[in-house]
Amino acid sequence: MPCVLLLDETAARLHTETVGRLITGIAPLGVLEIQAGEACKSLARLTEILDFLAENGLPKHGIIIAVGGGTVCDVANTAANLFRRGVGLALVPTTLLAQIDAAIGGKNGLNFRKTKNLLGHFYHAQWVICDVRFLRSLDRLQATGGFAEAIKVLAVSDAAALRRHFAGRPPGVENLSLDALLELVAKCVDRKLVLLDSDPFELSSRRLLNYGHAFAHTFEEESGFSLTHGEAVLMGMTVENTIAMELGLTTEYVDYVQSTVNAYMTENCLRYWLRGDIVLSLVDNLKAARRDQMNLVCLTTPGNAEIVDSVSDDIILSAWNKSLLTVERSLRKQMSA
Ligand SMILES: NC(=O)c1ccc[n+]([C@@H]2O[C@H](COP(=O)([O-])OP(=O)(O)OC[C@H]3O[C@@H](n4cnc5c(N)ncnc54)[C@H](O)[C@@H]3O)[C@@H](O)[C@H]2O)c1
Repeated sequence: MPCVLLLDETAARLHTETVGRLITGIAPLGVLEIQAGEACKSLARLTEILDFLAENGLPKHGIIIAVGGGTVCDVANTAANLFRRGVGLALVPTTLLAQIDAAIGGKNGLNFRKTKNLLGHFYHAQWVICDVRFLRSLDRLQATGGFAEAIKVLAVSDAAALRRHFAGRPPGVENLSLDALLELVAKCVDRKLVLLDSDPFELSSRRLLNYGHAFAHTFEEESGFSLTHGEAVLMGMTVENTIAMELGLTTEYVDYVQSTVNAYMTENCLRYWLRGDIVLSLVDNLKAARRDQMNLVCLTTPGNAEIVDSVSDDIILSAWNKSLLTVERSLRKQMSA
C-alpha cells in the first residue's frame, strides 16, 4: 500500500537501525523528518507536511506512517484527516507519553495564537504500534511526561494498578524492565480505551482523562513552553487535588495519589509556581473557561473521580497557595533522599 513516512528527527537519530529497517520494509513514497516539539503543532508546519504529501503523490487509499513523540503524532493525525479528506494513518509513538496517551483515542490538537491545542478534531489511526524499546533513550524529563499521564489515567480509573506500577518505584524508565514498561503501557492504554469507549467525543466519562489538565495548558503557555506538558500536568493534578480537599470531596486517597505525583515533581515546576503572574493568568483562565465548563477533575474514592464545573476564585487561589507548599515539601524530600 502506498505510504509516506513522517519521522521525529530525534527518535530517528537515536534509533537509526530500527527506523532503517522500517524504511527498507515499507519502501515509502517519501520520508519527511520533523523537528518535534510544540512548534511542530502549528499551521505553518502542517502546511509543509501537506505540501510534502501532495508532492509525493500520496493517493486517497495511501497511509501516513508517523514515528515520534506526541507532537509528531498530533500533527500527523491532523494531516491524515485533512489530506484528500482523510487518508490512512499508522502511529508508531516513541515516547512514553505518546504510547499511553497522545497516540490513543483519536483526539489531536494544534497550537494557535499562542494557545495550546486551540485547534483540533477527532480522527482515529487504523494502527498504533507501541514498541517499548524506543523508551530506553528517553531522558528523565521526557519520561516524566509519560509517568504523569500514567498516574493521571490510573488515578481516575484503577487504584490497584496505580499502586502496582508506582508504589516504591523510583522515577525513571531505567528503573523498569522492558516487561514492566510493556505492562504499564498496556494497562494505561486499556484504561484509556475503557473510559473513551462509551464517550468517544468527550461528553462524559472521557472528561475524567482531563485530570490535571484544567490548568496545565495555562502553565505551559505562560512558561513559553519551557515547562514540559508532563511537568504542567503534575502541577495541574496538584492544584486539582487541593481543590478536591478544599471542597471536601475526597479522603485519604488523594494523599496517596499526591505522594505519587510528588515523586516526579521537578525544580522547574517550583520555579514557575513562585512566579506571581501565573496565578493571575490562572484566574483569568478560570473565568474564560467558565463560559464553557471548567472540567476540574476531583478524586473521590480510590480509582474514582468526579467533574466539578464551577468553583469560586477564592478556592482556586487558596488551592494555589497550599499547592505551592506541597511542591516545596516534595522537592525538599526528593533532595534529602
Ligand atoms: N492527542 C492527545 O490525545 C494527546 C494526549 C496527551 C498529550 N498530547 C500531546 O502530546 C505532546 C507531548 O508529547 P511528548 O511528550 O511525546 O513530546 P514531544 O513530541 O515534544 O517529544 C519530546 C521530545 O522527545 C524526543 N523523542 C521522541 N522519541 C524519543 C525517544 N524514543 N528517545 C528520546 N527522545 C525522543 C522528541 O524529538 C522531542 O524532542 C503535547 O503536545 C501534548 O499536547 C496529545
